[in-house]
Amino acid sequence: MAGTGITICGMGSYLPDNFVDNNAYAQIVDTSDEWIRPRTGIVTRPIANGETTWRMGAAAGRRALERAGVDPKEVDLILVTSVTPDFLTPSMSCVIQQELGCPDAMCIDANCACTGFVYGLDMARRYLYSGDVDTVLLISTEMLSRITNYADRSTCVLFGDGAGAAVVRRGEGLYGAHLGADGTGYGLMFCRLPLPASPFTHNPPQPDEIYGRPEPDEQLVMAGHEVYKFAVKAMPQAVEKACAKAGLAPSELKWVVPHQANIRIIQTAMKNLGLPMEQAWVSIDHTGNMSSATIPIALDEMVQAGALQRGDKVVMVGFGAGLTYGAAVIEW
Ligand code: COA
Repeated sequence: MAGTGITICGMGSYLPDNFVDNNAYAQIVDTSDEWIRPRTGIVTRPIANGETTWRMGAAAGRRALERAGVDPKEVDLILVTSVTPDFLTPSMSCVIQQELGCPDAMCIDANCACTGFVYGLDMARRYLYSGDVDTVLLISTEMLSRITNYADRSTCVLFGDGAGAAVVRRGEGLYGAHLGADGTGYGLMFCRLPLPASPFTHNPPQPDEIYGRPEPDEQLVMAGHEVYKFAVKAMPQAVEKACAKAGLAPSELKWVVPHQANIRIIQTAMKNLGLPMEQAWVSIDHTGNMSSATIPIALDEMVQAGALQRGDKVVMVGFGAGLTYGAAVIEW
């Protein structure tokens, strides 16, 4: 009988080997390991050192294909999620397509912030069930160091760089997803491109005021406390709704793979779900927040650690700029 689920046939990831610990941040801003570690759960994080966003994505994608035993020529769709692409155009999926040798793949980039992998998984499933797509290569790749303001201690300590990828096909297990967004919170976390200034622009727009100051160009700005309050509500709600759509109670989940933004957010979300912390996969101590790449990197770690058994019910749950949120339940 045909199923309605998905199978993740192979996972891959790429982390730069340039790990930067909390003490190194104390050299550039007024902070300390004693402040960062208990409030965020972060100890160290990789920062790109010669990599580009698409090259990290291609490396993760290549590993996922190898582990899945899938020939790049079999890929019908490359879907890349990122908030930190190398180009506004072309899409990174096109650049990765030529690098990996997937000539028959259509190419889409999507920006759903830190919820990108979860949104991407749901988009992949919809393409897979549309009839003419059998194999999707989903890649989430991020270089947060590109947009981080290293003079702002309340944000710069949080972010890392890396990529995760999954080869996705139709499968027989259960599936349920709940995705959403609250655009009224767009100003709580954003990074604006430079304002237009052509030789024919006589009346250029001025940056909006944000938190009493003009919006900066190309730097991430965040109201951490407000985002925190949003996340601890949105995450458990998304998991409960995704579980309901899959016909499952949260208590039947084996694993929660949360977006790795702050250990305290993960702890509160698990408490609100009534699940023990042992069921949450935590990698934030050595990755920091890599936006959409954190969930597939965590999932890849779980696979490599042998933590996932066939039939395990796993939920991936994220939140991020937008404000977006979403959860997807799959059967491993
Ligand atoms: N080192 C030392 N002090 C710091 C600091 C740092 N790295 N960052 C902030 N502080 C200071 C602040 O300046 C403030 O000082 P003040 O009281 O003298 O003004 C104090 O610590 C408290 O700041 P606050 O922002 O209220 O701290 P917090 O407990 O909310 O923790 C975050 C800050 C960013 C760790 C937390 O809000 C958070 O994780 N939010 C979610 C952000 C997130 O997940 N974003 C990504 C979503 S995808």
